[in-house]
Amino acid sequence: MEIKIRGLKKHFFSEGKLIKALDGVNLDIKANKIFTLLGPSGCGKTTLLRCIVGLETPDEGEIQIGNTIVWSKDKKIYVPTEKRELGMVFQTYAIWPHMDVFNNVAYPLQNMKLPKDDIARRVAKVLDFVQLSGFEKRPSTRLSGGQQQRVALARALVAEPKVILFDEPLSNLDAKLREETRKELKTFLGELNITAVYVTHDRVEALALSDIIGVMNAGNIVEQGSPTKIYFDADHRFVADFIGRANIIPAKIYSQAGPYTEVDTPIGRFSCQKRSFDAKDELMLCIRPEFISFESPDNKGDEGDNLNRVTGQIKQMIFVGEVFETEIRIGDTGLMAKLDPETKYKEGDKLVLAVKPGHCLLVSK
Ligand SMILES: Nc1ncnc2c1ncn2[C@@H]1O[C@H](COP(=O)(O)OP(=O)(O)OP(=O)(O)O)[C@@H](O)[C@H]1O
Ligand SMILES: [Mg+2]
Repeated sequence: MEIKIRGLKKHFFSEGKLIKALDGVNLDIKANKIFTLLGPSGCGKTTLLRCIVGLETPDEGEIQIGNTIVWSKDKKIYVPTEKRELGMVFQTYAIWPHMDVFNNVAYPLQNMKLPKDDIARRVAKVLDFVQLSGFEKRPSTRLSGGQQQRVALARALVAEPKVILFDEPLSNLDAKLREETRKELKTFLGELNITAVYVTHDRVEALALSDIIGVMNAGNIVEQGSPTKIYFDADHRFVADFIGRANIIPAKIYSQAGPYTEVDTPIGRFSCQKRSFDAKDELMLCIRPEFISFESPDNKGDEGDNLNRVTGQIKQMIFVGEVFETEIRIGDTGLMAKLDPETKYKEGDKLVLAVKPGHCLLVSK
């Protein structure tokens, strides 16, 4: 089911201060896709999710799920949570420690007062789906974190909702388990044909899981798009910076006449991916560390290859396993780059950095 949000506002007062948790959010979430709300702590992700679920009453705006308006201030519509046909999985597992796996998962159906054999059949089906068949009698406290989260997922799915909402469901798991559970979740959701709204402040999780990412900041959706669009082609500095590590350097337009937009920066002139700007616009050049390659200082470069080249010196190399995270100084500017773990370069070496224009992204300041 599709979700439409129009002009949604939610303000809180805390210690005499007004907090605009949602500041007029407009959003269309497509049916049967995984939509992720990504943003820094306090930007309003949980508030937005709670408004969709009906656990929070907005101040203004409208929320529509499928063909039903579930909340509208102007039309005076309020559909209670239990009638919105949603499933929800929270950050804390929120499974009941005093119940076994079966009863945890059966709970929503028992609440609906379904016949016993109906409940047994549906619980068996969903436990099979999350690969927990055989765990029915296990006390829920005697499960691993990942298994507990799967119980929570099973419980959210057992009533066969059309929409499932997740609020940082993996953040309590350790890094390795988080990665495994993320993969499982992607597979589950892919098989289900369900609309999923997923909240996280973890950019890798967002990139790995989502069909569409909506990046939030200060109560607004700043930009939305596919993971590759958001990563490679962000329109906003905030988004480019938030979604991955980036070198962000002030830039002034030199020329927009050719196939590239040419800019002047403190580290020299760069040809960049074409984007039209006003000549007076204050811009930032954004280059991700992984798109900087290296040539030896005596390489004059092929004039026809359009690569941007600058000479720098390695200030620091930090070994993190798959790469050396490397800081390179060019005059007063420091750039982050990545060097192969088997590189022959060492701290203090001079080298030529090369970046394709397609990987030089200009965003407004
Ligand atoms: N009940 C409340 N009373 C007062 N302020 C609140 C309340 N709930 C949320 N806020 C404030 O609203 C803003 C948005 O909070 P929200 O929980 O939606 O952020 P979030 O994006 O989910 O953050 P996190 O990533 O830390 O979970 C924050 O400034 C928060 O302090
Ligand atoms: Mg939150």
